[in-house]
Amino acid sequence: MKKPFILSAAFLLLLSLSYCGSARRGTPTHAPLRIESQAIAQGEVVYMSHCNKCHPGGAAGLGPAINNKPLPGFLMKFQIRNGLGVMPAFKEDHISDQELDNLVAYLKELRSAKK
Ligand code: HEC
Repeated sequence: MKKPFILSAAFLLLLSLSYCGSARRGTPTHAPLRIESQAIAQGEVVYMSHCNKCHPGGAAGLGPAINNKPLPGFLMKFQIRNGLGVMPAFKEDHISDQELDNLVAYLKELRSAKK
């Protein structure tokens, strides 16, 4: 009667390893992006300087994950311009309208690249 116990213990161990594996810190949260357009590349620069500290790689940090929900572009723009709760507002003197368009293009790319 010892074998089945050892087998199920091994099974549980494997199961927990595979579940805990994805929660590891420091692993990339998305597949490498295909930065094909200039707009998306510029959006990434804006993202890295203003957003990445709270939404690291699009995943949750201080702020919630933003790469896992189908937020429409105009809503994301509204949130960025007006802020909400802890998230600060970013006005035109920080992110221009052109940069905002690029940023939203990058956010959509980030979302579609999510693993
Ligand atoms: C100081 C930390 C901080 C920074 C910087 C920040 N955010 Fe946020 N963000 C938050 C928090 C906190 C929330 C949740 C706000 C709430 O619902 O009260 C949030 C929410 C959001 C949401 C809505 C997510 C949802 O679930 O509805 C979007 C989109 C978003 N942020 C995008 C951005 C973008 C783009 C930038 C860069 C321009 C940015 N954030 C910069 C903290 C931050």
